Amino acid sequence: MTICVLSQVAPEAIERLRRAGTVRVWSEPGPIPRERLKEWVRDADAVMTMLTDRVDGDLLRHAGRLRIAANMAVGYDNIDVAAATEAGVMVTNTPDVLTEATAELTWALMLAVMRNVVGAREAMIRGEWTHWAPDGFLGTELFGKTLGIVGFGRIGRAVARRAEAFGMRVIALGRHAPYEAPYVDRSTFLREADVVSLHVPLTASTRHMVDRAWLSAMRPGSYLINTARGGVVDEEALLEALDGHLGGAGLDVFGVEPTDGRNPLVRHPKVVATPHIGSATVETRRAMALRAADNILAALEGRRPPDLLNPEVFERRSAGRPNP
Ligand code: NAP
Ligand code: GLV
Ligand code: GLV
Repeated sequence: MTICVLSQVAPEAIERLRRAGTVRVWSEPGPIPRERLKEWVRDADAVMTMLTDRVDGDLLRHAGRLRIAANMAVGYDNIDVAAATEAGVMVTNTPDVLTEATAELTWALMLAVMRNVVGAREAMIRGEWTHWAPDGFLGTELFGKTLGIVGFGRIGRAVARRAEAFGMRVIALGRHAPYEAPYVDRSTFLREADVVSLHVPLTASTRHMVDRAWLSAMRPGSYLINTARGGVVDEEALLEALDGHLGGAGLDVFGVEPTDGRNPLVRHPKVVATPHIGSATVETRRAMALRAADNILAALEGRRPPDLLNPEVFERRSAGRPNP
């Protein structure tokens, strides 16, 4: 068996994969170039992809005997699951293991932007802390405010669990109303939330969900936190809202990644920006690699991968009909 791992990941995960065959690791900095990836998938039985690797019909045409694309991320908007299903390739992601880490970063951004942590630090470095003043470096208190969670899934709930500790009330916006969540309709949600935190996957129905109309319905002085995907937000409309009534934004994800200080959102004085580090803890990145490796091992050993996103492929394969 040939297993391609498209980035250097935790060595234990590579070791585990060696049980099943030869492991080829893309160890140069940056994502594997598209043409190389097409060569690599030609004889691959499994591939561990990163969220920067696009898996679509065009790539899958080059795959000779690929059984699984195991994404080392919970989000899988980089993978055309329908095309993979058609090509008889199983797709998996890494849920659960990054939930707490991403919830922590969401709170880090909320605290940083609302309490002016970054702006105050930069002012201090510039020598602007000349005296203690009652109105110096003021932020907005979290205590007593309403936190609005969009997408009440694994990460959205983990963010909500931490709200009680900060004395915040939680409301949620989702597709169906579960019993334990204080769900409200969209206009009530946007009227009441002092902070809106995004936790939906990027799909056709969530792309630019946060548009001009959404942003103008947000409360004056309220905050937007995005640790989901940049594509969920219309970034031009967000820039306008930041120049207007929004209190600020905490952004870990962007429409085009990577990005830097030339991006007006990244350097906006009301924004705290981080470079897509939601799951970036030593513990979580290791757990993600192991989880992706376990999905690959299952697929190669004929077992059902635990995080299978297109079960019909497994069922077809089990019935001995590998490709439609
Ligand atoms: P999840 O458990 O699947 O939660 C997503 C939630 O969004 C589900 O409750 C889903 O509801 C809801 N949803 C989907 N479409 C919706 C819509 N149109 N309107 C309202 N709600 C909708 O996923 P998760 O593990 O929490 O991860 C969420 C996302 O976070 C990932 O897809 C990924 O893009 C992002 N993420 C980012 C980082 C980072 O580094 N910044 C790290 C991890 C994850 P249903 O049950 O109805 O589908
Ligand atoms: C990271 O963004 C993920 O989806 O795991
Ligand atoms: C502030 O440092 C205070 O003591 O109130």
